Amino acid sequence: MMASCFPSLVARLLVSFFLILQCVVEGKVSGAVQPEKYDRFTAGFRPPSVPLVVVDPYFSVWSMAENLYDDVTRFWTGRPVNMSGMMSIDDAVYRFMSNEPFLPEESMKQVNVSVFPTQTVYTFQQDGVQLVLTFSTPAVWNYLYSFPVTFLSYYVRSVDGRNHTVRLYYDNSAEGTVSDNSHFVVWERVNVSQNYDTMRIGNFHQNYCYQSNDRIDWGYWFVQVAADPSVSTSMAFTELSRMSFITNSPLPPDDKNQPRPCDDMTPALAVAWDLGVVSPGITLSRSLTLAYDQVYSIKVILMKLLRQKLLRENQVNKPICKLPLTYLVCLLPVCILWRHHGGLSQG
Ligand SMILES: *[C@@H]1O[C@H](CO)[C@@H](O)[C@H](O)[C@H]1NC(C)=O
Ligand SMILES: *[C@@H]1O[C@H](CO)[C@@H](O)[C@H](O)[C@H]1NC(C)=O
Ligand SMILES: *[C@@H]1O[C@H](CO)[C@@H](O)[C@H](O)[C@H]1NC(C)=O
Ligand SMILES: *[C@@H]1O[C@H](CO)[C@@H](O)[C@H](O)[C@H]1NC(C)=O
Repeated sequence: MMASCFPSLVARLLVSFFLILQCVVEGKVSGAVQPEKYDRFTAGFRPPSVPLVVVDPYFSVWSMAENLYDDVTRFWTGRPVNMSGMMSIDDAVYRFMSNEPFLPEESMKQVNVSVFPTQTVYTFQQDGVQLVLTFSTPAVWNYLYSFPVTFLSYYVRSVDGRNHTVRLYYDNSAEGTVSDNSHFVVWERVNVSQNYDTMRIGNFHQNYCYQSNDRIDWGYWFVQVAADPSVSTSMAFTELSRMSFITNSPLPPDDKNQPRPCDDMTPALAVAWDLGVVSPGITLSRSLTLAYDQVYSIKVILMKLLRQKLLRENQVNKPICKLPLTYLVCLLPVCILWRHHGGLSQG
């Protein structure tokens, strides 16, 4: 392993060296922080479509509505990729993400949405409780620090000086893993570590590059949460999971009826947290990780399939190691030019 890694390791070190050098020079020349570059993101910038999960063209989910609960969440082409969110406040259940069936009619009130370069922050308020929901995708342009996952973080606090009992719910369908909803999907739990509950769902037929479609038809969509006593997870019929949460019952057991079509008794990966009592002055938080393992990716320059090892145990650093030297050498001038012209922020 070490021998085959060596050339690209050298290239990596070279790239890092140039990048650090450039940061130092840039920092000296223009001051480390360049607020004018980011002003338009922070000063009430709200794009026509709000990015939620934006990792790559296949793993891409947006909210194309004013409020997160006015519409279903969608792929960039506009097709639904259903993700939902509910919150129970003192036994009254509200939705804050999606307007699909089997979610409560009533939604929390969205009071703010802010879009930053790698984060979207929603704030909801209802019955004296505030929920701040962030979607963070650490897709910084320098691949050394970026990671192809999206974190959903939930921050809950009481804003009326009273105690409230709070529960949270999340689910997503398998729509992000198929090019057509009639395709059969399978799901399973993955033992990544005993500290996490990890579930995955994906196409039963893993045919790489088989379809001609904007959507991917292979790979697996992962949902991972820290295995703490307040959390429960389930892979079952969406309607059942949602009804269980709404009626404050345990989530249904994992559904064994697989493979089955993505839209037949829609299987979903669901997570529920019982946060207990949130007291004034305290913020309770939970988070969830979304990731997509394409298993095989297309290596553009030589048009070759590249096996991804991401998310497999002890393999996290290896894909970078496998990038060929030519790729890095080609990339370097592009990166430097791009950086020199201010990247996207001057677009
Ligand atoms: C996603 O939500 C839309 C809108 O409610 C619905 O038409 C569609 O069937 C849902 N998808 C699945 C796989 O259930
Ligand atoms: C909305 O949220 C952003 C970022 O969290 C914050 O800077 C801004 O003041 C908030 N706006 C309102 C009206 O609460
Ligand atoms: C909230 O609950 C805590 C115990 O969980 C209790 O000590 C406190 O007095 C309660 N506060 C209010 C405002 O009811
Ligand atoms: C998961 O793997 C860990 C070791 O990595 C092991 O200790 C644990 O028992 C496994 N859990 C299950 C449910 O198999």
